[in-house]
Amino acid sequence: STTPVKVAVTGAAGQICYSLLFRIASGALLGDTPVELRLLEITPALPRLEGVVMELEDCAFANLAGVQIGDDPEKVFDGANLVMLVGAMPRKEGMDRSDLLSANGKIFTGQGKALNKVAASDVKVLVTGNPANTNALIAMDNAKDIPRERFSALTRLDHNRAKSQLASKLGVGVGSVTNMTIWGNHSNTQYPDLYNAKVDGKNAFAQINDQDWYENEYIPTVAKRGGAVIAARGASSAASAANATVEAMHDWALGTPAGDWVSMSVVSDGSYGVPEGLISSFPVTCANGSYSIVQGLEINDFGKQKIAASVAELQTEQNAVRELGLI
Ligand code: NAI
Repeated sequence: STTPVKVAVTGAAGQICYSLLFRIASGALLGDTPVELRLLEITPALPRLEGVVMELEDCAFANLAGVQIGDDPEKVFDGANLVMLVGAMPRKEGMDRSDLLSANGKIFTGQGKALNKVAASDVKVLVTGNPANTNALIAMDNAKDIPRERFSALTRLDHNRAKSQLASKLGVGVGSVTNMTIWGNHSNTQYPDLYNAKVDGKNAFAQINDQDWYENEYIPTVAKRGGAVIAARGASSAASAANATVEAMHDWALGTPAGDWVSMSVVSDGSYGVPEGLISSFPVTCANGSYSIVQGLEINDFGKQKIAASVAELQTEQNAVRELGLI
């Protein structure tokens, strides 16, 4: 179709977007389908965003049908088909957890309400800004007319990190790794599941067969990779977060490959004992623009305990935002 897809992105002058916007505009998201970018920032960041727009123009991307910027979500989200909520308030010195939740709560209640009012009827909303799962929960809860299945939070970066660390341990290309799952929260409590992952079509854990390495090296390395990047680079993951955001939205809109699945944080329907209504990471397949949670995977006692711990953390966050009146 030649009608441009309206892609709205928040936090557009930030470091993730300095990579993300160029990937979207170059066709990594939707191939040859023309896209119109709708970019949201806070007022003081608009001049900086104008500089980013100049660079987008200077790329002369053939499929970039237009760019609009602004600080009013009701204008920027008007008619948006695909929405990437990247902008969030980082934790600053002296802020405790509830300050962070309440600062982000204001952003995501407002954006949820604006989406409810003006987004396209087929809108899909992917939250990258942290705490991603709970921010997505707030946006979803404040957009009562949008089906809950249209909201997700990003655990694709964790998924990609898990694939890459496994491939490097086994000395294979990352393309050999399939059926990876991140369960739970996008946080240090996440559970990367090697019991259901495959390498060259065969069970991943069986090829490693080392519970000590799995528990004490692999899981912490994957879960704390974001911190390791900050320590090395002096700034948080940006290009890899942008890549994961593009891949997650691409697969949600266009489908996952046959025989494989991806990790997405989506609203629980009670699958695998995750309480209904929480936004938690699951293995999903996507087709025709919607996802389904993969059913029937075997979860051993170790996995059950890890998932329960991460889900408990999500419930604590849910209770906190409920007490703040954000949901
Ligand atoms: P950044 O600080 O460079 O950029 C964030 C931008 O958001 C800033 O330009 C800021 O002005 C803007 N912003 C703040 N409030 C806004 C609002 N109400 N509306 C629109 N824009 C707003 O941060 P960076 O590095 O781009 O990261 C963005 C978020 O992504 C952070 O919350 C970070 O923790 C998160 N993140 C999530 C990952 C994941 O795997 N889920 C991985 C890496 C980062």
